Amino acid sequence: MKDLFEVLKPGSKDWALASTLDPNRLPSHIAIIMDGNGRWARRRNLPRAAGHKAGVEPVRITVETCTRLGIRALTLYAFSVENWKRPRAEVDTLWRLLRVYLRLELPEILRNGIRFTCMGRLDGLPSQVREELENAVDATAHNSGMRLNVAINYSGRAELVDAINAIVEDARKGTLRDQPINEEAISARLYTAGLPDPDLLIRTSGEMRISNFLLWQIAYAELYVTDTLWPDFKRTDLLHAVLDYQKRDRRFGGLKPGAARAHHDEWPEAVGTIAR
Ligand code: FPP
Repeated sequence: MKDLFEVLKPGSKDWALASTLDPNRLPSHIAIIMDGNGRWARRRNLPRAAGHKAGVEPVRITVETCTRLGIRALTLYAFSVENWKRPRAEVDTLWRLLRVYLRLELPEILRNGIRFTCMGRLDGLPSQVREELENAVDATAHNSGMRLNVAINYSGRAELVDAINAIVEDARKGTLRDQPINEEAISARLYTAGLPDPDLLIRTSGEMRISNFLLWQIAYAELYVTDTLWPDFKRTDLLHAVLDYQKRDRRFGGLKPGAARAHHDEWPEAVGTIAR
């Protein structure tokens, strides 16, 4: 976390926010649904493409901040399988921006020891985009720093379908042997195999939706929805999200330590009250 203070101005708002974070309770994996580029552009009477273009700088800042915070993995939702329904020109703009981002940021990604990966039905992408992505994946394959994972042509349901088909294929080949089909078997065949599940899922632009993102992996993620549109998402917003996460009481379906005893002590009396 000390790396973050190197880029913060002492006494600034971000400095104050970062100072209140508990370095021992940071989320291991943050996932973000970057939403609101279109609305950002509409509010300025600009074409939607301008909103996507303005969405690149928050990606850069978020990657930098997460790296400096010491977050282990950051997954960004850049393009869903459903996004193909958008006009051709908009889809082409998104591919162009992704390629420009990779070309401009790869040196910085390498300098910071970030490992870049992408997930989704990548064989459905234009070949130039796929090549650029593969180049970044290969160039960073041996890095051991933060994992920057970008979801492209991604669908949570398609990911589950692919995992189930992989299990069926393993069974057919006989490589499954007597292994049970349990949660580990499914997790190991998801695109995120080897990554911890996201602890914190951030969605910008105020929509209370999951939009087919990481359906399996977010079972116990803490959700943080902000009204801020993605192009306006700043380091301050990210720090607010992490701070909010640290205030949550994560029980994973259990009880707070000590709560079981308190509950046990209260129970006979409560039963008595109901019975009377
Ligand atoms: C959702 O906004 C955003 C997207 C579909 C694309 C996200 C892409 C970027 C932020 C730019 C490049 C990405 C990388 C990783 C470099 P929307 O268009 O659905 O917004 P709206 O709901 O307001 O219309």
